Amino acid sequence: MVIIKNIQQLKQWRAAQVQSDIAFVPTMGALHAGHLSLIDAAKRNHQIIVASIFVNPLQFGANEDLSRYPRPFERDAELLREAGVTVLFSPQISELYPATFATQVRITNGLDKVLCGSHRAGHFDGVCTVVALLFVLVRPDAAFFGEKDFQQLAIIKRMNEDLHLIPQIIGVPTMREADGLAMSSRNQYLSEAERQIAPKLYQTLCAIKGQYQSLNELSGLLEWGKANIVKSGFNSVDYLELRSEADLQLTEIPQKARLFVAARLGNTRLIDNIAI
Ligand code: PAF
Repeated sequence: MVIIKNIQQLKQWRAAQVQSDIAFVPTMGALHAGHLSLIDAAKRNHQIIVASIFVNPLQFGANEDLSRYPRPFERDAELLREAGVTVLFSPQISELYPATFATQVRITNGLDKVLCGSHRAGHFDGVCTVVALLFVLVRPDAAFFGEKDFQQLAIIKRMNEDLHLIPQIIGVPTMREADGLAMSSRNQYLSEAERQIAPKLYQTLCAIKGQYQSLNELSGLLEWGKANIVKSGFNSVDYLELRSEADLQLTEIPQKARLFVAARLGNTRLIDNIAI
């Protein structure tokens, strides 16, 4: 695996790849089995795998966890090497966003105003800006994103279609711990006691899904779900909603819909979603 830390070197490497089939897995590092499942999915149909590690300051709000976000670079690089990645691109903030940097990608259809967007102003514009920038530099044939961040995936698909950036965006199902907790770099923040509580989020989604099919009493079930999450030990629930997969609109129709949840446990905000 080649480790590339500056843009010029990446451009040189990319220019040398003629008629190649390149898959791209963008990450912020602190890798876990969920990231490795993206690499595995990429390897199934592509020869050359580029992964990036870049903790993108543009997607963190003022009171969020940018400074404490874990950055175990050596360990991450080793995991990517073992996973069979061809190139690890990990640019410096000062090079990706020089002092003169003045351009942002902005979502205008409201996809970024619901769910996480209504609690994290500007977050998805920051995600889109860095992803567009990385797509332009890496010029992959396909890029892989986890369905755990389903809203992010939907927004990136929209941006990619609008801007005609790369041929394919692929969503990969969420990887879970044995007790159901969705894998996330932020799970590292959980104390031992919080780690015991965390799977209740997924368990609540599953309980609603089970009953929704037979009862069809959505609003009552969502109210029960929120109360159950708090009763389990979470501090608060940011949202628990059923939305359509295609456009993330609120829905009561069970086809192609997902239950989305975000809740706070101590100082950690956890998100999850399941198809219903
Ligand atoms: O999902 C992530 O890890 C990040 O949002 C991404 C897509 C790498 C952009 O910084």
